[in-house]
This record gives sequence, structure tokens and C-alpha cells, in this order.
Amino acid sequence: MTNPQDILNRMFHTQNSSLIYPKTEETNTQDFTEILQTNIFNVMLNRRSQRKFLDKNIEDWKIEIILAAADTAPTAGGFQGFEIYHIKNPSLKKQLVGAANNQPYVNSPLVLVFCKNPKRVKLTFPEEILRKFSIQDATLAAGYSQLAAHALGLSSIWIGMIDEEKISQLLETDLIPSSILCIGYPEKILLPKPKRNLKDLIHEI
Ligand SMILES: Cc1cc2nc3c(=O)[nH]c(=O)nc-3n(C[C@H](O)[C@H](O)[C@H](O)COP(=O)(O)O)c2cc1C
Repeated sequence: MTNPQDILNRMFHTQNSSLIYPKTEETNTQDFTEILQTNIFNVMLNRRSQRKFLDKNIEDWKIEIILAAADTAPTAGGFQGFEIYHIKNPSLKKQLVGAANNQPYVNSPLVLVFCKNPKRVKLTFPEEILRKFSIQDATLAAGYSQLAAHALGLSSIWIGMIDEEKISQLLETDLIPSSILCIGYPEKILLPKPKRNLKDLIHEI
């Protein structure tokens, strides 16, 4: 069993230099305790995609946890074949809308672009396999961040309808994006969507 206190220590009681966003604001210990006691099943069951966000900034410490969550995902061979671009530049956010089929909500308070980085995957398999692994690495990482965002009282929308080439150009990288995760405080809480019956989904053979 992991002691939740260890996670806290790992994330915030370390030297500030090891944080991406050195903590400037006071954080309420109560907040942390509640988050660490968040039941993962509740988070999964209550998550719902959201496309309407409040015009409200997300606290740095929440961003830190969302990014750290991505870093806990399993990756092929443990090589972490993905990169995350945290888009802070407002004009770049607007341009990303155009690279995502003009979906306006891409311009959200927190925009994370998950990219594949097959070069990091140092396994002796054909390149095609390494590319597949890096898609899976980037996708899982984004999924973990999405759940973490929900656990932090935020909502998100996963954007897969993207023009990969345009985004690579905007980010000035050779890496190929796999998804954009747009996160913010929801305008209103939406109920989770109904899903298929497990009986229809699971195929026992
Ligand atoms: C691979 C993938 C691609 C998606 N692409 C988009 C997208 O481009 N735009 C969008 O508004 N939603 C997108 N979504 C969000 C889905 O529409 C949403 O997850 C789905 O309707 C189920 O709703 P739920 O997340 O509330 O369960 C995508 C989701 C996934 C997993």
C-alpha cells in the first residue's frame, strides 16, 4: 500500500527546484488530504466531457498534479515515449483552435498537447512497432491526466480531431501530436453519459 503522505511529500515537500511550477501560492493542506482520499472509482464514474469552461485560471499546484499524473502512466519498456506541451501562449492557443477543426473550446484555461516520441523507446523492435508504442504511451498519459483533472474538481475535453502537421508546425517540433487535452473549471456540472451494458461490451471466449 502506498501511503498518501508519501505522494504528498514527493510532490510538494521536495525542494522547489524539482517542481515545474515552483509553489508560490499558499495551498490548503485540507485540499491535498481530500484529493489523496479521492476514490478512483468515483472519479472514473463521474467524469464527463465538458466543452464549456469558466474564464478562471487553474492553480499551479493543480497543474503540477495533472502533469505528475501523466508521468505515473505505464509506458512501453518504461521508456516514456511521449512529451507534453503545456500551451501558455494565448495566441498559440487560438491558433490551435484552427488546427483542431475550429473547435472553439480548444482555447481553454489549460491546454496540454500530448505528442508521441518514438525515439525515446529504446526497444529492439521495428520502427512501426515503436511508433505504435509511442501512440499508446501518449494516449495513456493523457488519460491519466484527464482523470487527475477530474479528481481536482476540473473538467476536460479530449481533442482527437486534429491536424497533426499543423500542430507540429505551431509547436515548432518534429514530434507528432496524438491528442489535445483541454481543461478548465466547468460552467456547470454535467452528469456522466450512459454507457453500453457491460454484457454487450465484454466478449467472453
Ligand atoms: C479518441 C478520442 C477523440 C476525441 N475527439 C474529440 C474531438 O475532437 N472533439 C470533441 O469535442 N470531443 C472529442 N472527444 C470526446 C468524446 O466526444 C467524448 O469522450 C465522448 O462523447 C464520450 O463522452 P464522455 O467523455 O463524457 O464519456 C474525443 C474522445 C476520444 C476518446
